[in-house]
Amino acid sequence: MEKVKIAILGFGNVGTGVWKILLENKKEIMKRSNYEIEVSKILVQNIDKKRDIELPSGVLTDNINDIINDDSIKIVVELVGGREEAMEYMIRAMKAKKHVVTANKLVIANYGKELFETADQEDVLFYYEASVAGGIPIIREIKESLTANRIEQIIGIINGTTNYILSKMTTDGSSFDEALKEAQDLGFAEADPTSDVDGYDAVYKLAIMASLSFGTDVDHDSIYREGIRNISDIDIEYAKKFGYTIKLLAIAKEENNKLELRVHPTLVPSNHPMANVNDAFNAILIKGNAVGELMLYGKGAGDLPTGSAVVGDIISILRNNVKPSDLKILNDEKDFKEVKKWEENESEFYIRLDFKDKAGVLGDTAKIFGKNNVSIVSITQEVEHQDHATLAFITHKSVEKNIRHSLEQIMELENINKVESIIRIESFK
Ligand code: HSE
Repeated sequence: MEKVKIAILGFGNVGTGVWKILLENKKEIMKRSNYEIEVSKILVQNIDKKRDIELPSGVLTDNINDIINDDSIKIVVELVGGREEAMEYMIRAMKAKKHVVTANKLVIANYGKELFETADQEDVLFYYEASVAGGIPIIREIKESLTANRIEQIIGIINGTTNYILSKMTTDGSSFDEALKEAQDLGFAEADPTSDVDGYDAVYKLAIMASLSFGTDVDHDSIYREGIRNISDIDIEYAKKFGYTIKLLAIAKEENNKLELRVHPTLVPSNHPMANVNDAFNAILIKGNAVGELMLYGKGAGDLPTGSAVVGDIISILRNNVKPSDLKILNDEKDFKEVKKWEENESEFYIRLDFKDKAGVLGDTAKIFGKNNVSIVSITQEVEHQDHATLAFITHKSVEKNIRHSLEQIMELENINKVESIIRIESFK
């Protein structure tokens, strides 16, 4: 059987997973790809670092040129992470006529166009299944299995760290800080959790899925973003009372050629399958105009799940069952689609106010909502003492700007202390 040489850039969690899968499933991979895959070089920062995995001598290098200049290496797997360096390595690899596989959502969301164009010009393949939702084969699903559809919606839990934190807050009653600390101790959350808890990671992944699904270039800066730092255990409890569970959802919808793109904490009906996606699991629900609703569930991170997506891409390249021209079609046929301003988006809302328990507050508040065309579905009120009481509302579908205007006017009422929370609701209709 013919041998093919590949190189891995970066040997962290995912790189190790790729190595393990290539070794453990060697026989199956040979049968399916028709090649014997040899990892001939692995780029690391420190060759002498002690590692759990024993590697053949001469495989490790700290010089990217050993890989780029080696014409016998046909595929480069980029797993160094970060942005500029990874981008430079991928472009150089393509220009050296090597196919490229990456798990790097940050680079694709920022420089996808340049990468696709370079791959086309150089007539090499560029695959990135692992960049969105780790082990879940969502990219291939959109690019291949669902091509008969016009995709109308994608709604996903695509960040495992935040889903772990929110699950802990929901099941154990922990505060955000306690749940974050636990996630960090268990290695689910990074020491600097910003990218996950503030929603950036989910924004990049949503930009990639939405570009592919709606055939347009989606600038990640056009996606409305709100993280989970402000979610309190009080909101989790109120949500439960109203029959909801709080999740960080990434939402992309297309209606009348306009896109609605947002990442934010969301109240999800507790009996919906999305509400039951717990811990670090990911799930993506796609609505296509032919297939209807389709949901994928699985591990969005981790050495073997993400490695599974990476090795799947390597095998696809070896089988060459998608030609560069197929990627070109996805690139060239892009239409311009306007992204709605967040104020124009429509949702149902959960709103929690802190107020002084004085006559007329409820009536005044309800009147303001009514004047702004915001219709209320239910209200609950709890009086702690005269100076602090809580009013929690669920609204019908309302335009965001009407909600904002209502709250600005409500804050001018004499007996209102604070707008504690505004969280959107997704009812999957
Ligand atoms: N940090 C991500 C998550 C995994 O928590 O889901 C990598 O994208």
